[in-house]
Parts: sequence; structure tokens; C-alpha cells
Amino acid sequence: MNDIPRPEATTGDSSWFVRDRFGLFIHWGIYAMPARHEWVKNREKLTDEHYQRYFDHFDPDLYDPTAWARAAKAAGMRYAVLTTKHHDGFCLWDSALTDYKATNTPAKRDLVRAYVDAFRAEGLKIGFYHSLIDWHHPEFPVDGLHPQRDDLAYRERAANRDVKKYAEYLHGQVRELLTNYGKIDVLWLDFSYSGRDWGWSKGKGKEDWQAESLVAMVRELQPGILVNNRSEMPGDFHTPEQVQPRGWVQVDGKPVVWEACQTLNGSWGYDRDNLDWKSPSLLLRMLIDAVSKGGNMLLNVGPTGRGEFDPRALATLQALGDWMRLHGRAIYGATQSAFTPPPDCRFTQRGDRLYLHLFAWPFKHIVLDGLAGRVTYAQLLNDASEVKMSEQPLPEGGAGGRTLRLELPVQQPDVLVPVVELFLA
Ligand code: GLC
Repeated sequence: MNDIPRPEATTGDSSWFVRDRFGLFIHWGIYAMPARHEWVKNREKLTDEHYQRYFDHFDPDLYDPTAWARAAKAAGMRYAVLTTKHHDGFCLWDSALTDYKATNTPAKRDLVRAYVDAFRAEGLKIGFYHSLIDWHHPEFPVDGLHPQRDDLAYRERAANRDVKKYAEYLHGQVRELLTNYGKIDVLWLDFSYSGRDWGWSKGKGKEDWQAESLVAMVRELQPGILVNNRSEMPGDFHTPEQVQPRGWVQVDGKPVVWEACQTLNGSWGYDRDNLDWKSPSLLLRMLIDAVSKGGNMLLNVGPTGRGEFDPRALATLQALGDWMRLHGRAIYGATQSAFTPPPDCRFTQRGDRLYLHLFAWPFKHIVLDGLAGRVTYAQLLNDASEVKMSEQPLPEGGAGGRTLRLELPVQQPDVLVPVVELFLA
């Protein structure tokens, strides 16, 4: 038995967040059109003039956020986080503070409004991702991540940019987003890099964003909202990116509320030729692993320039949903267990229910240490079929130690990750 870590109370309301466990990240913007990663402007050092072609041709005629929300819900996701603006500076909503927005493209509408309405109507919680970085804004000082970092003439012309003016714009836009769209449940700011130093420029962080007053404004406008940790202000939750943490995420030796963000294929934006797709089985094992360590998973889809989830993403979501339909009660409201699972397994626990997730199907038996005398009933979760139990002496003998042995069918149940539900005494 281990102690189950308990994070300190958060300023925002994390009660729903640690229950719901599984969310949809959506990276959508005009980078869906080059369709080769949302950092394409940086990677290929594209100029504003070049990048303009994506703005001019952005016409997501198939955008139907109700279809997105339904796909997310059917996958078992309970909240969503949409990019209102990514690092390229393009705004999906009708901001009064810029012309660089969806309403001025052939899309001609506020794409955030439609998202909020549709997801709320489907009962999902609403999150906004908002980029602290902006490679389009004329007052955003050029640094080593900027697309024009190697263009000396550009850098010279940009020498007098004033990050304070940019911060005003940033605050003003966040104010719009948190004022005009009703209750917003999550604000996902991205990201700070004050530790970077390129010699001729330094990275940016909380001083540049004036993050302290930014977060204070956020909390004033939306009491209860959850803010992440990427502005370099202590947020409500931490955001390991494209990794599976080794245990409950700790900061300064203390457990925190956390959410791992993951991609389907390594890219956040739609990436046509990318073949690095994770299988549904792997994604489920990642979700289960996160919950077994007290965390959430925010799984990303990058919609196409037409405004749709592509067929590969939809097929994956559907497979996740098939599993979640049967196994949701091992995920929602569940967390790390004090019991230690056998090899190739994870435990999640919700009150007196302990869930044994079998990442590899064993032959006939599985033995659970520390659980003899503590389980009153066991069943496969997918079909509520009984799993017989017996108690066995520990092979080492001594101290009357006993262990619990479960009898499993030779055939693995036809689900991506089989789960045994154990009712604790
Ligand atoms: C990174 C990347 C970005 C992505 C984000 C999601 O910070 O800059 O493209 O939006 O992580 O976690």
C-alpha cells in the first residue's frame, strides 16, 4: 500500500476536472492549410507575405462544431480546449483588436462562437487555448523562435518593438475571450521560455506577458476558471506535453493537479503526410496510465482546412469511444490507488472499486499481492461476467501471508484493454 497523493486545493474549480479526466484538444488555424505542422511558419521561416496565402484561402466550408462535439462526446471526452490563437497570431474569433482574424478570411465568421455554442449544447466543458507568443503582431519583439530570426534587415526594422504594447494587446484579447462567450472553464496559456538565450535575443516569460496581472484579470472575469501553468505564474494545473510522467506529477516535492496533453501523430495542427499515428490501444493505455497516476489526458485533433476531423482521427475517436462506453467507470472519478498493481497492469480506483487494467493478457491466472481478504467480488468490466477468486499462500510463506488469485479466461475479451472490476470490502 502506498499513500495516495492529494494536491492542495486549487484557486480555480478543479473538482469537475479531476473527475472528467479525458478532454479534447483542438489545434485549428490557417496552418491547417499548409498541412505540415502548426509551427510551419517558424520551421520554414515563412514571411508574413508568404503566409498571407493561407489567410486569403481559408474557407472551412465543412466546419460543423456540433459534429466535432458529438465525436468528442462519443469518444468519452468531457471537455474541450480550442486554440483561439496560435503562435502565428491568427485569431479564430471576431476580435476588435486586430484584422488578422477569421471574419476577414473567406470563412467570414466567428469560429470560436460556433465552437462554444456547439460544445456547450452537447454538455462539454469549454476551454480556450491562447498563445502568449505572436509571430504576426508588429510589437512582438523578434527572438530566436521568430520566423524572421535569421533575416537581419527584418530584425533591424523591428529593433524598436515594445513588448509592453504587445502585452496590452494580449490582455485585451484575453479580456474579450473571457467576456463575450459566457462561462469558460479552462484557460490554457502557451507558453513561456524565459530561460532561452540566443545572445542577440532572449526568450520571453512572465515579465513580458505581465502574467501576474493577466492571471488576476482572468480570475476576476471568470471566477472558478482553471488556468494552466505555462505563463510562469503558478496555475491550477500542470501540463506535461507528449510524455507519460513516471508518477503523480510533483512540483517542489508536492503533488499537483495535472493533465498530459497528447497528439494522435506527433503534430498538433493538421499534418497531411504524417504517418506517426498512435493506435487506439496505445492511446487508451496512455489515458489509463495517466489516471492511474492521478492525472488527465487532453488528446488533440487537428481539423483540416475544410473544417473537418479527418477520417483517421475520427476512426481513432470512435475506437476510443467503444472502449470508454464499457469502461468509463474505471476512468471518470477514478484516481491513483494505494495498491500496487502486478506487472503489465495499472490500477485505478474510485471509492471501493478497484480497476485492474491488463495491458498484456496473461495465461489463466493473475495474482494480486496485498489484496487477499479485501475483495468481495470480481468481474470483467466489459460484460459483468464473474471472475473467480481464490486465496493462495505466498510462495515465500512466512507470516501467514496470502495473495489473491484471479481466474481469467484463456481468450482475452474482445476489447482493446480488458479491465477487471474488484469490489473492495
Ligand atoms: C507547444 C507548442 C504548440 C502546441 C502546444 C500544446 O508548446 O508550441 O505548438 O500548441 O505545445 O501543448
